[in-house]
Amino acid sequence: MHFRGLLFGLRFILPLAIVLGLSAYAVVPLVDDLTLRWFVKDLDIRSRLVANTLQEPLQDALAERSRRKVVTLLDRAARDERLLALAFCAPDGSVQYKTPSWPAAVGCRDQAAEDVTLPQMVKLPQGPVHVNRNRIERDGEHMGDLILVHDMSFIERRSADTRKYVVVLFAILGVLISMITVFTAWLSWRGWINAMKGLLRGELLTSPSRGTASPAAVQPLLSDLRALVNELNLERRQLAGSGQAWTPERLRELLRDELAGDEILVLSNREPYIHQRTSDGIEVSRPASGLVTAVEPVMRACSGTWIAHGAGSADRETVDKHDRVSVPPGNPSYQLRRVWLTKAEEQGYYYGFANEGLWPLCHIAHVRPVFRVTDWNEYVAVNQRFADTVVEEAHTDNPVVMVQDYHFALVPAMVRERLPKATIITFWHIPWPNPESFGICPWREEILKGLLGSTILGFHTAFHCKNFMETVERYLEARIEQEASTISFGGKLTQVEAYPISIAWPEADMSPSIEHCRLEIRRLNALPAAHRLAVGIDRLDYTKGILERFQAVERMLELHPSMIGQFSLIQVAAPSRSSLDEYQNFEARVRALAQRINSRFSEGGPAPIILRIAHHEHDEVHRYYRAADVCMVTSLHDGMNLVAKEYVAARDDERGVLILSQFTGAAREMAEALIVNPYHIEQGAETLYRALTMPEAEQRERMRSMRSLIKDFNIYRWAGRMLNDAARLRRRERIQAKIDQHSEPAMLKRVV
Ligand code: F6P
Repeated sequence: MHFRGLLFGLRFILPLAIVLGLSAYAVVPLVDDLTLRWFVKDLDIRSRLVANTLQEPLQDALAERSRRKVVTLLDRAARDERLLALAFCAPDGSVQYKTPSWPAAVGCRDQAAEDVTLPQMVKLPQGPVHVNRNRIERDGEHMGDLILVHDMSFIERRSADTRKYVVVLFAILGVLISMITVFTAWLSWRGWINAMKGLLRGELLTSPSRGTASPAAVQPLLSDLRALVNELNLERRQLAGSGQAWTPERLRELLRDELAGDEILVLSNREPYIHQRTSDGIEVSRPASGLVTAVEPVMRACSGTWIAHGAGSADRETVDKHDRVSVPPGNPSYQLRRVWLTKAEEQGYYYGFANEGLWPLCHIAHVRPVFRVTDWNEYVAVNQRFADTVVEEAHTDNPVVMVQDYHFALVPAMVRERLPKATIITFWHIPWPNPESFGICPWREEILKGLLGSTILGFHTAFHCKNFMETVERYLEARIEQEASTISFGGKLTQVEAYPISIAWPEADMSPSIEHCRLEIRRLNALPAAHRLAVGIDRLDYTKGILERFQAVERMLELHPSMIGQFSLIQVAAPSRSSLDEYQNFEARVRALAQRINSRFSEGGPAPIILRIAHHEHDEVHRYYRAADVCMVTSLHDGMNLVAKEYVAARDDERGVLILSQFTGAAREMAEALIVNPYHIEQGAETLYRALTMPEAEQRERMRSMRSLIKDFNIYRWAGRMLNDAARLRRRERIQAKIDQHSEPAMLKRVV
């Protein structure tokens, strides 16, 4: 039995034992005294009865003066086992007749007693005796006294027995009461602990009637705690949404104050810096990735380690012997740990399962998902490799691990298995479809179980959270608390929350100037200085709605021929996943459509569609944003789309118009954009025309509103909210661990 369990039990049993012992100690003399009095009373009655019986024959024998008769009478009476001796005393106080056992110490009169007729207890060497004196008279004449002496030793024996019984009774009572008390305490304690745990897990925060049934006795306490926790949560939310701006400094403060400098590990497939071998030597670049755009500034603020696939041709040459390199180059503030994959692994895990399976599955963009068992096997193996790397890089047993995206759906459960105390924040950067669509995946249960290893699972929108919860409800046996937005699976709780991702708000002074950018970009693309310009900035991906965008341009020119030769769309498209057929076909279709439209509307002047299929560095993209009158974001489906936010952030002149697909997460936040259905080409065309002809005042009004939103709801807020929630859950876990430490009832179970 566990020592602490014993201690817990003793807490109840010891006071009980002391109280019962003291009670027994006090009760035994009382019981003793009571029984003695009862027995003495009995002896009195008995003595009187014997005396009354002997009265007449004794009177007769005395009258006859027959010594023989008197002695026989007394001897016969003395045969009673309790009656020790009898004697007859003459009126002068001398013993006239006595039985042989008459104790010499008992005289005819007790000189000390005032009333000699009262029964007395006399202590003799052989034990106590009861002495009873009876006056014998005839016709009013005092003939003498009959004295009866009863043996009282049997009373002592009975009294000792009674004492023994009382002590045994108290002992049995003590054991019974202790068992009942400890068992009842254990039951109540268990109920209380469960209710507390539920509360800490957030299950009972909003719905006292649901979730763990807690004992009625703890309901008042739970209500108070619930109110307190809700109040704290409210304060937290108010603070998150308060006017205090989210900055890298505030994020650092949060890490220092709330997470006590706990280590942060980020895991993503795409690395933030990629080293490539070129004819000029090794060059480092930032990949075109919303994920990198968002997470990189957070890592600069937090330090820590970012684990990613080393995909660059010169990546191996730039790492140390632990496969680490300090980044950003020139101003290092965190570590990049590269993981190497073979061609076969990359093919199966990244191109195959992630991008031919999960990507089209989640985007529902009319490209059939392809699921192959070989790809799945690589996906599992690579996920395991990255999970092992997380464990390897962790210096403590409870790091904060931020798992990024659909490439690593299995990692959360894998890391949880090795580091049960880790706080795992998983962010799913793409949409989560409805349960029917997700159900197509042959490994849907495995994916869901993997993700439910997370402490916090984040999506861009509440809609994606709802889809995820419904999917879990459909395919797993899990307990879902809609109001608290938690899923309990396999004894582990996952908080499912919407954290709309964003960008780092740019520094105050932006350069080059708008005028400079307008002229430079137009000059670079051989366009007149006053040419109307729209930009599209995307990875070359079929989900981005690039074909629909071109069709909208074509239709706009048909509907508004005055724009022919006056307007162009520059489409910057970073090559992406180009080894996949679907992407190659897509590129071919994009090129062909641009060519067809250009051949219709160029007529010797500038082409309406200028296609730039190449990687563009961040600075170049920034210039395009600042140069463009309109930015077109027409994704067929997109988790968030950060191009929309980057465009707005780049326009410190408060000019420019954003056209935004209703199927992006961004559209839920940026209502001042011109929202379009990208599938509706006519609508797209008219919206483009409207954007190109929008009065400056309206542009300013819309842009100002969007800018103030994105400035506040920036990437530090995104990370800050997640880390704040992680800190809160870690606090709860610490409290829970303390409660667990004290919840000895589990051990007490063995005691009782
Ligand atoms: O949108 C999902 C996402 O992972 C983004 O986070 C990122 O912008 C993009 O896909 C990058 O794709 P890849 O890493 O395949 O080039």
